[in-house]
Amino acid sequence: MDFKQRLTAWLDRIPAVAQGGGASWWLKLHAWLMRRSWNRLHDGWGLGAISFLESTDGEWNEQEFRLVGERFVARMLERFHAYGDGRLAGASVLEIGCGTGRFLGPLAAHFGSVTGVDVSDAMLATAQRRLAGIGNIRYLQNNGQDLRVVGDGTLDYVICAGVLQHITVRAVIVGYLREGLRVLRPGGLFLFQFMGNRGRATTTNVLVGAQIRARDLDDGLRDLPFRIRELSRDPVDRNATFVVVLEKLPPGGEASVAERSFVTQEVRWLPWLDGVYDGIGTQTLNQKRAPDEPLADTTFFD
Ligand SMILES: C[S@@+](CC[C@H](N)C(=O)[O-])C[C@H]1O[C@@H](n2cnc3c(N)ncnc32)[C@H](O)[C@@H]1O
Repeated sequence: MDFKQRLTAWLDRIPAVAQGGGASWWLKLHAWLMRRSWNRLHDGWGLGAISFLESTDGEWNEQEFRLVGERFVARMLERFHAYGDGRLAGASVLEIGCGTGRFLGPLAAHFGSVTGVDVSDAMLATAQRRLAGIGNIRYLQNNGQDLRVVGDGTLDYVICAGVLQHITVRAVIVGYLREGLRVLRPGGLFLFQFMGNRGRATTTNVLVGAQIRARDLDDGLRDLPFRIRELSRDPVDRNATFVVVLEKLPPGGEASVAERSFVTQEVRWLPWLDGVYDGIGTQTLNQKRAPDEPLADTTFFD
């Protein structure tokens, strides 16, 4: 056996990684690294691994952590009401990279059923502990690459926020977007958020994800039925955070090039971060940014 075969055999002994099935040794290694890194971050920083603190000796106030989660979920619901039928009570939602459940708890108050997927078993265990007693949430550990633990067309909504900016392999990012569309029923909505100011080269720093470009999304999603309902930035957000909402179309449903191209899509200015940290005493990196700091340059349209 050569080195790659030995490495693959070793990785395949880890159940969550082995679920990757036919994935290459490189993707398996990536999944293992992701899982190990996020488990370590979880163990070392607690809730600070979810929303980064200004200093390593800081700590999140649990009530404030929950409030920030509720405020972000309110932003998501604004979108779902604007682009969907607004009937959430009987609907299902899945979060990719749910972490310690900052969004799962508030989502469970609005949706019929909530599924949290994460590569890190430590994160999922804390989410389950924090949200113990809420009956309509299920927790699934995945292989860090896809949503094979979920069937096709089974969900009404998918969300992914605070995650893609940490994934270092662009193919995995695009793969998750394809997977989000796969698990949605026709008419379902997929909201995702990412940082549009990543450097030009893919980096191996586990916290700094690969650059996401409009043309990669156009290429990677070309064969799938969807239309873009929103591509936006928040005028008060100094980070170049983008929010995207996709609507899955029925089989054979056709969107015009203008409706499905990220390259030509108009970027709207809509609230996302605005107000979320108002009155929050916990010192986070997000809050540290001065309101008069210039907006970060975006590399999304490179
Ligand atoms: C910064 S936390 C955000 C958690 C949650 N979305 C929130 O905003 O409260 C990032 C989460 O994504 C998870 N994650 C990172 N890479 C992943 C991957 N490739 N597949 C699945 N989950 C991943 C991490 O384990 C971590 O729980």
